[in-house]
Amino acid sequence: MRILGIETSCDETGIAIYDDKQGIMAHRLYSQIAVHADYGGVVPELASRDHVRKTIPLIREVLAQANLTPQDLDGVAYTAGPGLVGALLVGCSIGRSLAYGWDLPAVPVHHMEGHLLAPMLEEDVPEFPFVALLVSGGHTMLVRVDGIGQYELLGESVDDAAGEAFDKTAKLLGLDYPGGPALAKMAEKGTKGRFKLPRPMTDRPGLDFSFSGLKTAAATTIRKEEMDEQTHADVAYAFQEAVVDTLAIKCKRALKQCELKRLVIAGGVSANTELREKLATITAKLGGQVYYPRPEFCTDNGAMIAYAGMQRLKSGVFADLSFKATPRWPLDTLPAI
Ligand code: KG4
Ligand code: ZN
Repeated sequence: MRILGIETSCDETGIAIYDDKQGIMAHRLYSQIAVHADYGGVVPELASRDHVRKTIPLIREVLAQANLTPQDLDGVAYTAGPGLVGALLVGCSIGRSLAYGWDLPAVPVHHMEGHLLAPMLEEDVPEFPFVALLVSGGHTMLVRVDGIGQYELLGESVDDAAGEAFDKTAKLLGLDYPGGPALAKMAEKGTKGRFKLPRPMTDRPGLDFSFSGLKTAAATTIRKEEMDEQTHADVAYAFQEAVVDTLAIKCKRALKQCELKRLVIAGGVSANTELREKLATITAKLGGQVYYPRPEFCTDNGAMIAYAGMQRLKSGVFADLSFKATPRWPLDTLPAI
C-alpha cells in the first residue's frame, strides 16, 4: 500500500510518499524561514498563503521523483491539527479534494502523532511500550506509549515549549528565527561553568516542565554582562546545558515511573546533538536505549505524516467527504489502533 502525506501545520510545506513495503519513496520539504525572517517569528497569514503556492507543485515533484501517478496511490494523508488554523486548512482542503478527485480514502493525521512515530522510519525501530519525549516549537510532552493511539500523557510544559524557549533566547542573543539550531552552534564555542542557569521544576516531584523562567534568567544575564562574542557563546552554552539537563532529569524520572528502558525523542529539538548524547548516556546506564529520527525527520516533514496516515488507513480510519482543521487537539484523545 502507498500513501501520500501532506504537512502544512506551521511554516514548512512537507510532502512525501510512503510505501508499507519499500518505506519512504520520495519526500520534499519547502521551508518558509525566509518568508518570516524579517518578522522574527511565523506570521500565520503569510504561512497560509505560502502553503497555497507550494503544496500542489511539491506534490507533483514528489510523484515525479517516485516515478508514480495518482493511480499508484491508496490514500491521501494530511495534517488536520494541531497547528495554525489557516495553514492547516490549506493542507486539509488540498488533501481532501485530491482524495475525492482520485477516488481514494482521505486520512486526517495528528501532527504530534506524526512526530512521535517518525523514529519508525529508521532502521532501528523501538518496540512498544516506550516513553516518548516530544519536543518541538509548540509542544513539550512526556508520553507513555503502549501502541499506536495508546498514549498516556505523563507531563507537559505549563508555559513555553522547549523549542520556543530556544527560539526566544536565540533572539535575545541576536540570532535569526528559528534560532534553536543557531543557538546550538553558538554554544559549541561556549565555556562550561561560566554561567549557571536554573533547572526549572526539577526540585519537586512530577513530570511537568516550565521554560519561561529559564528564558528570563538568560535575559537577566544578558542584561547584566558586557556582551562580547565569547559571552554570547557562554550564555548559549549555559542555556542549552540547562534545557538538556532539565529534559534529561524528567526523562529519567518518567522511565523510572513507567518501569521502562526505551526512550523515543522526536520533534524539532530532538535534532539537538547535546540532548541526544545526554539521553543516550542516561538510557545506557539504565540498560536501555534512546531512539530518534534522522535530523530531517525531527523537524516538520511530510514523511512522518505519510507514515502515521498509513497506520491509521490500515486500521480503517478515514474521513467522510467533509474536512476539518483542529488547531487544538489533545494527543491522548486519539483512538487506539
Ligand atoms: O517540530 P518542529 O519543526 O516544529 C513544530 O512542530 O513546532 O520544531 C521546531 C523547533 C524550533 O523551535 C527550532 O528552534 C527547534 O525545533 N530546533 C532546535 C534544533 N533544531 C530545531 N532546537 C535546538 N537545537 C536544534 N538543533
Ligand atoms: Zn512539528
